[in-house]
Amino acid sequence: MKVIKDVLQLQKIAFKHLREGDEVGLVPTMGALHNGHVSLIEKSVKNDDITIVSIFVNPIQFSPDEDYLKYLRPVKKDLEICKKNHVDYVFMPSANDMFPQAYKTFVEVEALQSIMCGVFRPIHFRGVATVVSKLFNISCADRAYFGMKDFQQLKIIEKMSKELNFRTKIVPCPIVREKSGLAFSSRNFYLTNEEKSLSLNISKILKEAAKEFKNKSLSVVKKKAINKLKKIPNSKIDYAEIVSIKDLSLADKNMKKVVFAVAIWIGKVRLIDNTEMTK
Ligand code: PAJ
Repeated sequence: MKVIKDVLQLQKIAFKHLREGDEVGLVPTMGALHNGHVSLIEKSVKNDDITIVSIFVNPIQFSPDEDYLKYLRPVKKDLEICKKNHVDYVFMPSANDMFPQAYKTFVEVEALQSIMCGVFRPIHFRGVATVVSKLFNISCADRAYFGMKDFQQLKIIEKMSKELNFRTKIVPCPIVREKSGLAFSSRNFYLTNEEKSLSLNISKILKEAAKEFKNKSLSVVKKKAINKLKKIPNSKIDYAEIVSIKDLSLADKNMKKVVFAVAIWIGKVRLIDNTEMTK
C-alpha cells in the first residue's frame, strides 16, 4: 500500500493504470474510518484491479460554524484499516494542494443542493460536488463508491457525474449499521453514552415507519414518525421528509417506492439517517 500526498503524483500513477488497462476504484472519504467506509472499500477491492481510498477533510464543504477543525483525524488507525483491507493507494492531499489560496472554481448541482440538508448547510453540497469532481479527475477512476447513508449526497453525485459526462461510474452502497441499528458515522464518536442510547431511537422510528408504509398512507406514516422523533429527549429535528427515490422531490401518495430521510440533532451532534420504504 502506498500513501500519496501529492495531487500530481497520484494523477500520474492513475494515468499509468488507465494506460495499462487496469480498472480503478475510488472510495472518497474524510477519514475516521468505520465499518460503513470499510464496506465501500471491500466492494472496490472485490470489483476493481486497483483501489484508491482518499482521506481528505474537505474544508470547502464546512461552514465557518461547523466542525472542520474539530473533525477527527486518526491517521495512523485509518492507514491500518486501509492496509488490512488491501487498499493499493491512500490519497491524503493537503488542503492547500487541493484548494490553493486563489482557488475559485466550483461545481453546483442546482436542482438538488438547496433542499433537505442543503437548507441547513447552504454551501455544503457545492463543496462536496467540487471536491468529488476533482477526485474523479485526479484518480481517473472507473468506479467510485458512495454510501446510501448520505442519500442526498449520492443523488447529487449521480446527477453531477451524468450531466458533466464523467467517465466514473457511481456505485451506491447500502447503509451499514451497528447491531443496535444506529448507522455508523464518524460523528457517532462525539456522542456521550447517554446521547448514543437516545440516538438509537432514530433508526428504530425509521424502521417502524417503513413497516407501516406497507399498509398506511404516506401522511399518517410521516405524522406518526415525526411525533415520535419529537419525543426523543435532548433532540432537535432539522427535517424529516419522505421523498422520491429518483429525484428527491416530495413524495406523493401514489408513489410505491420512497425514501424517508431525517437530520436530527442529539445534543450537539447532528445525525442523518434514512430508509427506503416500499408498498
Ligand atoms: P464521509 O462522511 O467520510 O463518508 C465517506 C463515504 O462513506 C460516503 O460515501 C458515505 O455515504 C459513506 N458512509 C458513511 N457512513 C456509512 C454507513 N454507515 N454505511 C454505508 N456507507 C457509509 O461523505 C463524505 O465523507 C464526504 O462528503 C466526501 C464524499 C468524501 C466528500 O468530501
